[in-house]
Amino acid sequence: MRTDKRKVALVGTGMVGMSYAYSMLNQGVCDELVLIDINRKRAEGEAMDLNHGLAFSASHMKIYAGEYRDCSDADIVVICAGVAQKPGETRLDLLKRNAAVFRSIVEPVTESGFNGIFLVATNPVDIMTRITYSLSGFNPKRVIGSGTTLDTARLRYLLGESLRVDPRNVHAYVIGEHGDSEFVPWSQAMIATKPILSLCGSGGEEDMVNREELKRIEEEVRTAAYKIIEAKQATYYGIGMSLTRITRAILGDENSVFTVSAMLRGEYGQSEVYAGVPCIINKNGIQRVLTLSLTEDEKERLDNSCNTLRESFEGIF
Ligand code: LAC
Repeated sequence: MRTDKRKVALVGTGMVGMSYAYSMLNQGVCDELVLIDINRKRAEGEAMDLNHGLAFSASHMKIYAGEYRDCSDADIVVICAGVAQKPGETRLDLLKRNAAVFRSIVEPVTESGFNGIFLVATNPVDIMTRITYSLSGFNPKRVIGSGTTLDTARLRYLLGESLRVDPRNVHAYVIGEHGDSEFVPWSQAMIATKPILSLCGSGGEEDMVNREELKRIEEEVRTAAYKIIEAKQATYYGIGMSLTRITRAILGDENSVFTVSAMLRGEYGQSEVYAGVPCIINKNGIQRVLTLSLTEDEKERLDNSCNTLRESFEGIF
């Protein structure tokens, strides 16, 4: 980990990448941000546009269009490059096209001498992160995907609205695939230290919520991206801010917990698969995978999600 400056390299200056860059600038998360894109002119234009706003920002971030060689002294390389879902497409539908894109990205990054942390957002993110791990040969603790970090934020927002509790006091997670097989282990969901399931009473007015509402919220989280894509063709602000939050935890050596996409190596009885699970994140990347105490049904749902991911990866790589 460098000590003199905090440098991030962003590969892919599409809407997700630039939402991330804009969020990084406005939150002053790093000292240097290099924008890399196959369309160099686009990267240059994006750098110019952001630099012209610096005067209005508290940040002094150095922003420029660069090349893969500029990754050599970066702390983090964030990969947002690839094709995005079209209306009606699942995230897994993107796999073949984005696997080809990643073969042209990861090698030049590692050849630059980069020795930091990969943070992957391109969908299907769990499999793209697994591909990044395979192509880079890095320690899997330093190859992270955004995973279900955004889904968990969506869950906390919706639970906060429903229960009228600040989302920061909602401790609940979405785990598994960042996709159709993701789910909420409700047995582990808390408001402060009170289990949410204990708030689903027998129907009296003192109940704060009921299981039907929880089911509706879980489905709303799972289908959120489809609805946003139907409405505005793509999602980018939520994922851009999720990536910024994870970047802040790495650069700030925070030891904060996020449901990033992590390589499971025995946790939950799973191995050689990347999936979204709560992890402690710090300057070393994934410091520790936290294993929740799942019910039998929840364990089955995580197994199903991991099997879906493993089969899709083995089908492509
Ligand atoms: C979403 C994209 C990032 O869930 O997959 O919005």
